[in-house]
Amino acid sequence: MYKHLYRRFIEANPTLLHFACHSHHYWADISREAQLQYWDDSAKHVDDKWNHIFSVKVPQAQRLIAEILNISHPQQLVFAPNTHEIVFRLLSSLDWNQKIRVLTTDSEFYSFDRQINRLSELPQFEVVKIPTLPFDTFHERFEQAMESADWNLIFVSHVFFNSGLVCDVERLVKDAPSECPFVIDGYHSFMAVPLNLKPIQDRVFYVAGSYKYAQGGEGCCFLYVPPATRHRPMYTGWFAELSKLSAIGNEVGYPTDAFQYAGSTMDFSAMYRLIATLEKFKDEGLTITRIHEVVQQSQKWFLEEVEKSGHPLVNRQTLIATDLKNHGHFLTFDLPSTEVTTDLVKKMKTRGLLTDSRGSRLRFGFGLYHDLADIKAAVAKI
Ligand SMILES: Cc1ncc(COP(=O)(O)O)c(C=O)c1O
Repeated sequence: MYKHLYRRFIEANPTLLHFACHSHHYWADISREAQLQYWDDSAKHVDDKWNHIFSVKVPQAQRLIAEILNISHPQQLVFAPNTHEIVFRLLSSLDWNQKIRVLTTDSEFYSFDRQINRLSELPQFEVVKIPTLPFDTFHERFEQAMESADWNLIFVSHVFFNSGLVCDVERLVKDAPSECPFVIDGYHSFMAVPLNLKPIQDRVFYVAGSYKYAQGGEGCCFLYVPPATRHRPMYTGWFAELSKLSAIGNEVGYPTDAFQYAGSTMDFSAMYRLIATLEKFKDEGLTITRIHEVVQQSQKWFLEEVEKSGHPLVNRQTLIATDLKNHGHFLTFDLPSTEVTTDLVKKMKTRGLLTDSRGSRLRFGFGLYHDLADIKAAVAKI
């Protein structure tokens, strides 16, 4: 129904069945004009481009994102090229001269997980990872862990990248120690699974980006910073000087708004693409709720087709899911081993069906550019 939004990517890959959109989504056609607009604005404004970006484009992006997440403070959003930069900036706000206790899960994306693994080689870092499975006891176990120690950082995904399972972040925040930063990685839910941040907007940090379901392509990630935050990230960039400096710092001053988390010069063409795509979706009536409905229908069709096919590996028994009405936009099947999974991914690719895997888990992603015919064709190629 929405294929017309992706004409260029579809025409460039006429025979490809792209079911890896949870990893890298097709870009909407509108983002191409936005990319060119960035070039034209660079030519038109030359050195004044930065003024245009910070006075027009950044507030525009902040407003659109704030509307989607239902947050009242758009100015509390700050941008970076990737989430790793954001995550490391958050970690660098902690006092590294003291013991640092981090509570997280065993299912966080590598940008955080690899970094935290490296940092836990330092004596002052203590990291506890709560396994997400079995999922029916996950929230309870996480709550118990939150009560069991004095944490300096809590980091959890809204939708877990290695399963698509949805964490009830609102529930977890309720029991979180109030003085400890609580960070939500929303990359797998932003523009996919509805989340109303308003009830917890004074409490949580939220990180996400443009490359997945927001469909702006790589390069425009963002952090929501709760308004009362007065941090001094060690990993800081000179953009933090662009906002009015307050007296919260000593030698190095930091602004009191989200720009306390700002980095340095980045390519803002991704922000242009993101704005154009989000505006187009608004014009088409594509709210997250609507997108979620469309994808849930596709997932339902996919599972019906899979059931008919009687596949020995990809079936209801290997599917990781608890509630398909509240699930990420990809379906994950846990196969007997990494080798079996990798082998199947390769075979499907040679047949024109693109998916991906994480260890033994095979993932099929669903987007607005799939219809029932695509789904039937995809299942026939597994
Ligand atoms: C949950 C999650 N967070 C973050 C990212 C992206 O990380 P980065 O922007 O550091 O490349 C991904 C990418 O797949 C992800 O799945």
